[in-house]
Amino acid sequence: MSARHPLRLASDPEPVSRPTPPAPGSALRDSFGRTHNNLRISVTDRCNLRCTYCMPEDVTFQDRSELLTFEEIAALVRVAVPLGVNKVRLTGGEPLMRKELYKLVRLLTAVPGLTDIGLTTNGILLAEHSQELFDAGLRRLNVSLDTLDPARFRSLTRRDGLERVLAGLEGAKRAGFSPIKVNAVAVRGFAEHDVVPLARYCRANGFELRFIEYMPIGAEAWEREKVLFASEILDRVQRGVGELVPANHDPSSPSLDYAYSDGGGTVGIIASVSRPFCASCNRLRLTADGKLRNCLFALDETDVKGFLRQATIDESGIANALRTSVWAKWRGHEINTATFVKPGRTMHAIGG
Ligand code: 5AD
Ligand code: SF4
Repeated sequence: MSARHPLRLASDPEPVSRPTPPAPGSALRDSFGRTHNNLRISVTDRCNLRCTYCMPEDVTFQDRSELLTFEEIAALVRVAVPLGVNKVRLTGGEPLMRKELYKLVRLLTAVPGLTDIGLTTNGILLAEHSQELFDAGLRRLNVSLDTLDPARFRSLTRRDGLERVLAGLEGAKRAGFSPIKVNAVAVRGFAEHDVVPLARYCRANGFELRFIEYMPIGAEAWEREKVLFASEILDRVQRGVGELVPANHDPSSPSLDYAYSDGGGTVGIIASVSRPFCASCNRLRLTADGKLRNCLFALDETDVKGFLRQATIDESGIANALRTSVWAKWRGHEINTATFVKPGRTMHAIGG
């Protein structure tokens, strides 16, 4: 497979020769020349599932008073857009655990210059909320779904709920969302059974399936041996479903995209471990409790809640925090090296 359809290898960024700190008003550029237009916003760390690769069973959630309000999130976005952010994605925990999330969508669709708003959800509450989200202007949806087998769903998520996720996907399709992407985490020893059924299901329903290599960001001990790699996943899809050919690659997407040669849909791989895309990373993250993280694996965070909770919102403080956080970004995660240090937060408290 990989010989016929070589996977893209991102070129490594070179640091600019003499890094200078970002000037006020400048775009969100880091010292390696990467420009950031993509803000991922976690709206809660709460979740109605307990996926083993994401969070511990006995998790303690943050107090609700710690979470940014929708107004505070929108205020931050209004500062970030003039600095070059045109794309946001709402994540969690499970973002639909936040009551009336459609109201945040409405605030965001009203921000001029924000061209792309997406939501990543586990789908459990999607059936009941898809219409109001669509009516608020949301169009792009990623639904996390790792298996179509109820018992396997329970063992992975430590909860029941497969039927609800499938109903959520149905509802989203009926409401008119496009694209609808299905994200599956590929853990070796588990995902092998699910690759082909998921690929068939997504192909039949017009969902864009993307496998994500298992990353060391959950509560469990991670080893490279537990990652089901991109090339093996593609092999399984080709043998079990149909021939794939490399699809046009969107350079800003972390996904390596393939299309069925009969035109029956696409499959993507987010090969974060075997083919890190750090070199072209354009992402910045905001946690539900108001911290900026310049990398999923960042060890440092920059607080912005303080600027948002003043009598008058300190917009220049926020702009400065955004620029400084991006400027301090490192070259990339070092999952594949001995120096890798797992961040203190697990995935549910960062946002995927
Ligand atoms: N490795 C890869 N992906 C993960 N996700 C959660 N934990 C991990 C992990 N350890 C994914 C979820 C969801 C998105 C928010 O992040 O499955 O699709
Ligand atoms: Fe919840 Fe998503 Fe984490 Fe699963 S991966 S526990 S659905 S936040």
